[in-house]
Amino acid sequence: MRSTSILAVLASSLLVTARPVRTRDAATNALVFQFANVLNQLESQFYQQGIQKFQDSDFSAAGFTSSQMVTQILPQIKLDEDTHIAALQAALTSAGAQPLTCNFKFDDALKDVNTMAATARTVEFVGVAAFLGAAHLLPKDLIDPAGQILTVEARHSTLLNIFSGTGSSIPSPFDLGLTPQEILGIAGGFIDGPCDLGLNATNPLTVTNTNITAGTLLTVTANGISGTDNLFCNMIQGGNSTALNLPLSQCTVPDGTNGPVALWITSSSTPLANDVTSRATDAQVAGPAIFFVDSQPEALGALVRGTPKTN
Ligand SMILES: *[C@@H]1O[C@H](CO)[C@@H](O)[C@H](O)[C@H]1NC(C)=O
Ligand SMILES: *[C@@H]1O[C@H](CO)[C@@H](O)[C@H](O)[C@H]1NC(C)=O
Ligand SMILES: *[C@@H]1O[C@H](CO)[C@@H](O)[C@H](O)[C@H]1NC(C)=O
Repeated sequence: MRSTSILAVLASSLLVTARPVRTRDAATNALVFQFANVLNQLESQFYQQGIQKFQDSDFSAAGFTSSQMVTQILPQIKLDEDTHIAALQAALTSAGAQPLTCNFKFDDALKDVNTMAATARTVEFVGVAAFLGAAHLLPKDLIDPAGQILTVEARHSTLLNIFSGTGSSIPSPFDLGLTPQEILGIAGGFIDGPCDLGLNATNPLTVTNTNITAGTLLTVTANGISGTDNLFCNMIQGGNSTALNLPLSQCTVPDGTNGPVALWITSSSTPLANDVTSRATDAQVAGPAIFFVDSQPEALGALVRGTPKTN
């Protein structure tokens, strides 16, 4: 079984030994793998609940030209997530850590097939961003096993971009990483009941626009934000070294934007860095929120969805 060697490496790296340097590594490793384990549980439960709720006919009614294509692929994605969970939990257990089990609710996200597809697209983008953003926390011998999961999450992400019907399958030559705290800020709303990772989530941010295109003036809501005075928006696209920082009252999506954008609100006009190891947190007020701009629809999406549909 292909996960055997991954398990062995994970387990040996997580084991706490008497040497202080390894003890510190083990604590960090356990946190990163607990975090990855919880995130994969979120993905698995999301697909599980969606597969239970919707029939092939719901996908056809929503414009999918072959509902079979989707109903075959979604269970396969779920199986990948379940296999990741099994590997991560076995590694945590053999290292003496108790794997965290969390529950999630997706009522709004599973309102209809279009909303499910749009949410899955964000969830897969966030999955990639999470593994990427946690990579620097891993010791050398865990980078390869984590990478073996990351590349599969990236394939899921491409499929969900295609299923949107309007998105580019590979919107950027570069992905972006987010910190565990930022990922929790995005995903925390789905958590149902206790799920204590020992991390503080960033302040969740919601973009209230629908149908975002270049030129859209973004509007947002978050705890602690009222009005736009002395606030700045920071948009980061894959490949940007820093955010585009604009006064919140003029937070307009720039020309040329295509694909996922991460948006933060800060109290400073200094652009946030696109780098999890150096992104300043002191001026962050809320975010990130993720939104997609689909300015370059592809024939591939049209093939899956017939006439392009927006959500
Ligand atoms: C989370 O935030 C609280 C309140 O600011 C702080 O006391 C605590 O140390 C933080 N926990 C972590 C893990 O950073
Ligand atoms: C989205 O916005 C664009 C540009 O303003 C517009 O051309 C398009 O018709 C809108 N689509 C929907 C579904 O509202
Ligand atoms: C970075 O952001 C700007 C907008 O601020 C955009 O025009 C540019 O294409 C982005 N991408 C890269 C790779 O720099």
